[in-house]
Amino acid sequence: MYSYPLVVKAIWFDESLNELCWINTTKLPHEEEVLCSSDPARVAKAIRDMEIRGAPAIGVAAALVVGAYALKIAGRSLEEFTALINNAIHILLKTRPTAYNLFYALTKMQRSLREALSRTSDTYTLAKKLVETALEIYREDVEANLKIGEYGAELVPEEATILTHCNAGALATSAYGTALAVIRIAWYKGKKIRVIATETRPLLQGARLTVYELVKEGIPLTLITDNSVGLLMRKGKIDLVVVGADRITRDGYVVNKIGTYMIALAAHKHKIPFYVAAPTSTIDIEHTIDQVIIEERDPAEVKYVMGKLITLEQVNVYNYAFDITDPELVTSIITELGIIRPPYNETIPVNIARKLTT
Ligand code: MRU
Repeated sequence: MYSYPLVVKAIWFDESLNELCWINTTKLPHEEEVLCSSDPARVAKAIRDMEIRGAPAIGVAAALVVGAYALKIAGRSLEEFTALINNAIHILLKTRPTAYNLFYALTKMQRSLREALSRTSDTYTLAKKLVETALEIYREDVEANLKIGEYGAELVPEEATILTHCNAGALATSAYGTALAVIRIAWYKGKKIRVIATETRPLLQGARLTVYELVKEGIPLTLITDNSVGLLMRKGKIDLVVVGADRITRDGYVVNKIGTYMIALAAHKHKIPFYVAAPTSTIDIEHTIDQVIIEERDPAEVKYVMGKLITLEQVNVYNYAFDITDPELVTSIITELGIIRPPYNETIPVNIARKLTT
């Protein structure tokens, strides 16, 4: 399944335990804690607390734990089995409102259960089907990571300094990442890549996770504070930007980690290509950008850094987890189907329709 070395793995299905396993990303880069569970409530907590994070990883993990849980409760009455599965899906859907992959994966699981129920009432057969569907969603993500990497690498010059924000890497997906898959595969193809990683306040996914992954892989990188981006662009130190996405609407609005929009604006001003790498499971063709909920998180994440209070406890805080980048700031969107170019309100629907008919 993997055609390049995989130095880090965020989530996987352990077939001897019949459990979802994950690396607790809140402990990285200093501790590599692996946790396993088949309890949807425990995994919902892991997603909410960001032990598991990154849109594709969230979706795949939710599907895998539903499969694991189904195996655990197989043998109960059909009514109890379906009620418990529906409740598990309901709990998982409530964890993070912005990441579209969560809705994509859990809707697939619901559909799979409905279809299987029309053929059988044996809960062991239903559980097996749910695991199969979850593993398909997992493999689809691995495959998408690879294709995004291959297509994206074509856009990278032979020598380039690439800026990325947050962590859209192995620690956010099932395999190579999205933005980091582009960087990885360009690197494996022998291109001379240097990476600039923003630290990504408040939870420091860039400083903790992107640095951890790229150092492990030996890809040269420099860490910057989030507010250094404009100066580095002005100094000509960045050739292109590649970031991931939590949700892309059918007209090309990109919802991604808070700070992405400011990077896109600065890139536009300095005529630097701004690429978004994401699987089509991140594309929401149903909702307009005004209907998308931007997650707001606990103010404590801003007031405390690594457990230390850095301001006054009583201060008001805005802690939006994501922002919105307008389509006209996005040079192109790198998906597993290929490169999608503007005008996105035409090209995105065409590509999604193509996906649905193949
Ligand atoms: O809050 P997080 O860490 O889950 O946010 C992650 C991002 O914003 C990523 O860029 C996005 O999910 C894409 S990951 C391939």
